[in-house]
Amino acid sequence: MLKLKSVDLKKVKISTLAVPVCEDKDIHGGVLSKLTQQAINIEEFHGKKDEELTLYNPSGTLTERVQFIGLGECANLDPEKLRAFSGKAVKAAIKKGLKDIVIGTPSSDRLSMTEADLVSALMEGACLGNHVFDKYKKDKKLKPLKQITLMVSPDSVKKFAKLPKRVEAICKGTLLARDWVSTPSNDKTPSQLSKIFINMAKKENLKTTLLNPKQLQQGKFGALMAVAAGSSNTPRLVVLEYAPKGAKQTVALIGKGVTFDAGGINLKPTGGIEDMKIDMSGAATVAATLITAAKLKPKVRIVGVMPLVENMISGSATRPGDIIKSHAGKTIEIGNTDAEGRLILADAMSYAKEKYKPDVMVDVATLTGACVVALGEKIAGLFTQDDALAEAILASGQKTHERTWRLPLPEDYKELLKSDFADTNNMSSTRWGGAITAALFLSGFAGDTRWAHIDIAGPAYQKKGSAYCDAGGTGFGVRLFCDLMDRLG
Ligand code: BES
Ligand code: ZN
Ligand code: ZN
Repeated sequence: MLKLKSVDLKKVKISTLAVPVCEDKDIHGGVLSKLTQQAINIEEFHGKKDEELTLYNPSGTLTERVQFIGLGECANLDPEKLRAFSGKAVKAAIKKGLKDIVIGTPSSDRLSMTEADLVSALMEGACLGNHVFDKYKKDKKLKPLKQITLMVSPDSVKKFAKLPKRVEAICKGTLLARDWVSTPSNDKTPSQLSKIFINMAKKENLKTTLLNPKQLQQGKFGALMAVAAGSSNTPRLVVLEYAPKGAKQTVALIGKGVTFDAGGINLKPTGGIEDMKIDMSGAATVAATLITAAKLKPKVRIVGVMPLVENMISGSATRPGDIIKSHAGKTIEIGNTDAEGRLILADAMSYAKEKYKPDVMVDVATLTGACVVALGEKIAGLFTQDDALAEAILASGQKTHERTWRLPLPEDYKELLKSDFADTNNMSSTRWGGAITAALFLSGFAGDTRWAHIDIAGPAYQKKGSAYCDAGGTGFGVRLFCDLMDRLG
């Protein structure tokens, strides 16, 4: 679907060409530069941010339509603006019912960006924008494009020959996670979701393990079972494993998989409950990362652990005040049944540690509303005591624009999780700093394993569509993790 090609616009007939334009500098060479000039000569188009202009059959080419999109000032151009450009161009083409698009790549020597970054960003935006989630609509008008071609020099076609396949694999992983997150909870109960993950993973020859409710009970996953107690949809735990020969490091990725978070007996109110199908986003990110890793083949061994439960309210639900025993043996007083994510993660983390002995463990979870209050809807919270791991995750976030921001894990705040009756409480004694106390709770189950926690409650989902992502699940974390695996290898 993604291709790099050298195209002679004077000789080859093209249906749609998308061209990015800066307002203060010509960023193209050759025919693209001449085309840009034709556009700029038209009064209403200057290349200002978000300005658009379509020319039909412009002179000097055999191109049916050229879609110019303004990027604003050249000095402000970065890979994310290029992703947004190509995402927008693809979305516009889908709306018009077109089947393919050619993207005019600027010359990197006119930009302060490496050609690799430039080409990757354009391909990513286009591929991520080429997605329609219409499974539940009768009317399936919008069809993703069949072909996306980046117009580059013959030299670059050779230099970046392996890039399209890699970018496509990563973006397809992201789209997979988006679809899973957008799927309603009635179609992704823990049992259904475990099958979806395992079937997909088997196709990629990953090793898969499924723990059923009986095995979870026998394995003493007391915290996970306590969350699952209120639902007739029984829990599962899925492990996907990618184990290349000669791997020197094992990374465990743990993903929160609450297929619906009603809050339990501490029932969520209207306004807070409607979007809670997204509470398995962490698990979606981990499963999609493993499936993508099978294609990208990084050097590290990756173990993805996904506890899947539904947090419901019923006569069999766990009560506030109940005391349960976690897989690690630590007793937990349930201060609030809506703080369920940390409970299933605690059991998944101690299981991952005991069974797979990872060198590094990273969990990803839609864990707290407090993190969204702190960092908004586009930036994830990052918690770790390990500076090197923090650096690597921050760098991957920067590179992929799946941004994380490091927050502290202050030792003295651990007091807030004390219980009079059990080893710990799952709820802080104060309402303040909820993202931090949640992370501190998890830290109590990481032991001495290098560990980081990423709170994606904000960026896992968006209510309104953006340049290269429609409303719904965003697949946040898949691109970040794919980049991170190379840094840890
Ligand atoms: N799944 C929620 C967190 C969440 C909130 C995700 C908003 C996505 C968007 C989590 O299980 C939860 O309910 N957390 C509580 C914790 C509190 C009870 C300590 C919260 O954030 O209010
Ligand atoms: Zn909750
Ligand atoms: Zn939750």
